[in-house]
Amino acid sequence: MNKTDSTYEERQEWRQRCILSNDSFMMGLPKIELHVHIEGTMSADLRWRLSVRNGISLTAGSDKTPLSSLEEVREAYKHIRGRIGAAAADAKTNMTFYEAYYGGFDLLQTEGDYYDLAMGYFERASQMQVRYCEPFFDPQGHTRRGIPSDVMMRGFKRAQDEAESRLKARTMIKSQWIMCILRDLSPESAMAQYEAMLLYKSMVVGIGLDSDEFQQPPSLFQAVFKRARADGFKLTTHCDFNQKNTHEHILQVAKSLGGNGAERIDHGMNAADHPELMQIIREKGIGMTICPCAYIRHTSEYEVFPRIRKLFDAGIQVTIASDDSAYMEDNWIFHNLYLVREKCEFTNGDLISLQRNAVSICWTDRETKIAILDELATFEKNGYSS
Ligand code: ADE
Ligand code: ZN
Repeated sequence: MNKTDSTYEERQEWRQRCILSNDSFMMGLPKIELHVHIEGTMSADLRWRLSVRNGISLTAGSDKTPLSSLEEVREAYKHIRGRIGAAAADAKTNMTFYEAYYGGFDLLQTEGDYYDLAMGYFERASQMQVRYCEPFFDPQGHTRRGIPSDVMMRGFKRAQDEAESRLKARTMIKSQWIMCILRDLSPESAMAQYEAMLLYKSMVVGIGLDSDEFQQPPSLFQAVFKRARADGFKLTTHCDFNQKNTHEHILQVAKSLGGNGAERIDHGMNAADHPELMQIIREKGIGMTICPCAYIRHTSEYEVFPRIRKLFDAGIQVTIASDDSAYMEDNWIFHNLYLVREKCEFTNGDLISLQRNAVSICWTDRETKIAILDELATFEKNGYSS
């Protein structure tokens, strides 16, 4: 750990302060979420419920320490630390990020399980005034376990439809899915999954790329991205913070993925160190989804917040998002926004601009965009922009 890294306790103290502040601007701000992995929203409570329901026992760490109660699962969630793809502080007894993330996949068996996962997220998002979201899902992580696509997609669809109608009374929550390709599997597997997913085309707006980036550049998946672009999908790709060859990966995504570059980049924060990349991203109007709570779990805040500020000040269409909230110290879009306001010294007006950026780079219809922009304008007019 660098001496400038925050400790878990410091981050928790800060998080408590943010929750207890009851900040009416932050709570009322209409929000758009463009970077959330649905599988990364599995709370400790849902993990426990699914394990009981499906008769699957839970463990943590390479020692396979049994988790035998809800309390133990909650405690285990507090010890998921470090960079995505790296070992936990003590990987013998603690879960690594990927152990927590892919271990959660194994618990999802029935349509009802997928419904519960997605509905849990939509409920939570609605409480945070999220009006529209584009959650990622990783179908290869489910179909490779023998789960039929139909089981997964029916569960997601039921939750999505219900969220839109049932939660509408409180807030409008619309959504469209982004199907992510697992970059640690082969390009052939990606293409096969893509073709299978065409049956559900009406639910899916975009194609993304996630999982372990090490030695897996976006260009490996050019064939499937070109095909997806030709079929009318929007494109995005993870370029994780401080990854090896990150500038090369960002350049591929910005300039050539799908033929002439993707519409968005997920993370991609190291672009801030590279004026030429910043210029390409700005000139092409590429959106960037930035998830600060994910980075400060393993990186000094001095490495994180000045870069976000720099991208924003350069006029790049940055938006703030949450990534894998359940496995990232329970930080959701609300906490991420709260954090950047304090640490990047953003005004409330800047936070409204960040939401306008999200409207601009999201992939919903014109009518929904106008409705959210109108709501943001009213919110601002009512004195919430100072
Ligand atoms: N899978 C789930 N979350 C991810 C992330 N932030 N980066 C890469 N792969 C992921
Ligand atoms: Zn992500």
